[in-house]
Amino acid sequence: MQIGFIIVGIFSAALVLTAQPLRAQMPQGPSTSVNGPHGPWPKTTNLHVLPKNISHDDLMKVMHGFTGSLGVKCNYCHAPGAQPRHLDFASDAKPEKRTARTMMRMTRAINKKYLSRVNVADAKPERKQVTCGTCHRGHDIPVVFVPPPEHNHGMPATIPPENSAPKPE
Ligand code: HEC
Ligand code: HEC
Repeated sequence: MQIGFIIVGIFSAALVLTAQPLRAQMPQGPSTSVNGPHGPWPKTTNLHVLPKNISHDDLMKVMHGFTGSLGVKCNYCHAPGAQPRHLDFASDAKPEKRTARTMMRMTRAINKKYLSRVNVADAKPERKQVTCGTCHRGHDIPVVFVPPPEHNHGMPATIPPENSAPKPE
């Protein structure tokens, strides 16, 4: 049950990141009136990738998707606030938060521009797209994958540069 809930959470976080048209279907609501552990959550003021009218619940699904996927807490990306034990969620002071935005755009682009062109018929919907967890798997920096010895023929794991000028997308 709990695992199901987590999967649904991560999946809906992925949807928020990947599916532009879903914006219109997402529950609309002001993020002012929801109470957090330290009183009401302030209205969001600094969203550049997520929809500005995202509901508080959907925003928290995305944020919990981040903490779970990277194995971190909120303060990994969010800078301390003026009061002790508070975070200034709108602040962009921490480089990790700015990198996370780049990662959100990258993840969206991988799904929208590239994986949308691939259709493996028997792939389950949640396997047809990448999420933060696809690469991070519980680590803040993805662990390097080394194939087991029987499959490792000393080949480089990186892709060489394009052999001609890349075509415009
Ligand atoms: C991996 C980095 C990362 C982690 C971990 C993270 N966040 Fe965020 N958070 C972001 C980014 C990036 C944004 C801005 C998204 C955008 O620009 O659309 C954001 C935005 C927010 C905002 C909106 C702030 C505003 O006013 O614009 C809130 C609230 C928030 N996060 C809460 C949390 C909470 C609570 C947690 C822990 C459960 C958390 N975040 C964990 C990266 C993170
Ligand atoms: C395709 C694989 C991939 C996906 C998907 C991905 N990441 Fe990353 N991420 C990386 C790699 C590789 C690095 C290390 C990049 C570097 O240092 O140059 C990284 C670095 C980061 C860092 C910086 C860590 C640090 O120590 O400063 C953050 C934060 C981060 N990713 C958040 C996210 C979030 C949030 C998502 C989902 C929206 C995400 N990533 C999706 C591969 C990925």
